[in-house]
Amino acid sequence: MRIDIITIFPEMFEGPFSESIIKRAQQKNLIEIRLHQLRDYTMDKHKKVDDYAFSGGAGMVMMIEPVARCLETLKAERIYDEIIYMSPDGDLLDQKTSNKLSILKNVVILCGHYKGIDERIRQHLITREISIGNYVLSGGELAAAVLVDSVVRLIPGVLGDETSALSDSYQDGLVSPPVYTRPQEFSGWKVPDVLLSGNEKLIENWKHEQAVERTRKRRPGMLEE
Ligand code: ADE
Repeated sequence: MRIDIITIFPEMFEGPFSESIIKRAQQKNLIEIRLHQLRDYTMDKHKKVDDYAFSGGAGMVMMIEPVARCLETLKAERIYDEIIYMSPDGDLLDQKTSNKLSILKNVVILCGHYKGIDERIRQHLITREISIGNYVLSGGELAAAVLVDSVVRLIPGVLGDETSALSDSYQDGLVSPPVYTRPQEFSGWKVPDVLLSGNEKLIENWKHEQAVERTRKRRPGMLEE
């Protein structure tokens, strides 16, 4: 999968993309992430990519020209399955969406800033809008990093043990059951006996019951779905 990210803050991705799973996925050539500085695509001599809103009020609006120019350059090279705009009023990200995106070949992610982006970008150049939650971030960069992480870990071969993504919370419509490790007892707090029984069938049943119970308590909506 190739992911092209358009941003005015490419450095914001350095940390998240140079550690752990995303780093390994790039090293294994399972994903290729390219960061594009939007300012490189403006004709303005001051590298301006925003302007005042025609509707007035405080806050600048990201202009269409640099975005269109950047997208044209990318689209001349390959066909994109999706051109995603990270926006607080986009479709809420969930595991189903991450699964669907993980099988795509080429994806662009546009990170907005300021008060928003010229509506014509959303109407004519973007194929979908995604929000990572009902709160407003200062820009789309952190949201894009979250989206990339949730998608990349689902690409076959990215996680060492393929079953570990399959047993993630949400993957089978349930949250994950609790897990324990050594010591068997700490400050009088014991690991449930069943987990020490060595009986695989009993342990599997226990895990399923716990997952259902936890889902009922914490995400009842998931069981209704
Ligand atoms: N940009 C600003 N806030 C955001 C959010 N919650 N999700 C996605 N993009 C955003």
